[in-house]
Amino acid sequence: MRPRVYVQEGGRVTDICTMNASTGPKRILVTGGAGFIGSHTAVALVDAGYEPVIVDDLRNSRSEVLDGLERILGRRVAYHCVDCGDEQGMAAIFETPVHGVIHFAADKAVGESVAEPEQYFSNNIGSTARLAKMIREAGVPHLVFSSSCTVYGEVQSLPVDESAPIQPAASPYGFTKQACESLLTYSHAAAEGSLGVALLRYFNPIGAHPSAEIGELPLGTPANLVPFLTQSVAGIRPALTVFGEDYPTPDGTCIRDYLHVCDLAEAHVAALQWLEKAPGALDVFNLGTGTGSTVKEVIAAFEAATGRSVPHQFGERRSGDVTAIYADASKAQRMLGWRTQRSLQTCLADAWRWQEKLGN
Ligand code: UD1
Repeated sequence: MRPRVYVQEGGRVTDICTMNASTGPKRILVTGGAGFIGSHTAVALVDAGYEPVIVDDLRNSRSEVLDGLERILGRRVAYHCVDCGDEQGMAAIFETPVHGVIHFAADKAVGESVAEPEQYFSNNIGSTARLAKMIREAGVPHLVFSSSCTVYGEVQSLPVDESAPIQPAASPYGFTKQACESLLTYSHAAAEGSLGVALLRYFNPIGAHPSAEIGELPLGTPANLVPFLTQSVAGIRPALTVFGEDYPTPDGTCIRDYLHVCDLAEAHVAALQWLEKAPGALDVFNLGTGTGSTVKEVIAAFEAATGRSVPHQFGERRSGDVTAIYADASKAQRMLGWRTQRSLQTCLADAWRWQEKLGN
């Protein structure tokens, strides 16, 4: 049976999909484009003159995101409800020339990956392998991959730059990011100069679009700090538990590098533009602010930005957490011309505006 392929394309987009890529706007497939980072990247792509084509089977996101995008952009973005690793379902999408692929679609919960390793290997590594093959066969020139600072594990010195050694993965999730980086490095070599690849290692993306039309939509109890915090303030969850107050940091809580999702989205555009100028290149970039914040500092910044107090308590350390990690993002600044623009308080104010819009 042929897999379900649902295409929703507005008037302008329908025209574009019949255009030749050399004359029409540049089609960029955004796998996982209905997700948190993917949806914000779709906005950044449109702002930069690209034509995003969202590929997302909504297993971990909601179709309302597409409505939010429409309210921001004033038109519908091309959307295909299909698993990006489904060769049959993806074939029609690759029939029209594709200028680039930004591959976000993946499972991303560390704890879940420990409980369901097979799912993570299949959804993250298996899908990426099939997608990379499709990309090469279709002759797509540019690929941007969503990796993570998790590949560094517990680092020896901070800030961490891209030359830091990759540590044995602390979770199946982390392993899948390492494996996909390796896989795409081999795909790049196999393409013999016809495919450029940018591997982007994200630190901790938070916040939401300032319009509050799109943001993070965790299904169930959030595992990540900021969505749990905002839901706790909104009264949907009990008090936030800060995982560990006995770390060797200035206030005893873990340090992370939190960056605004809109800054992160803009980095994908910068990576594409870099690939256009360096066809066939391969490189890896840290994407962070360069500054670490403790969990207590995040709580204080949220309270300062919103005037709302965060109900919280201190609990045990969470298994698998590293003490501290923050980026040396100078390579992205030097080579991509990208750096973060938005402060921690802006991130948290936007995250709260989004939570208020969602209601409880
Ligand atoms: C980790 C990965 C990141 C990955 C993400 C996916 C590392 C260094 N980072 O982010 O690459 O994309 O998982 O989910 O491996 N915290 C609390 N209470 C909570 C939740 C979190 O105190 O209820 C604390 C954590 O202990 C941590 C910080 O908040 O210190 C951030 O946690 P979280 O938002 O889950 O992100 P990471 O674990 O850093």
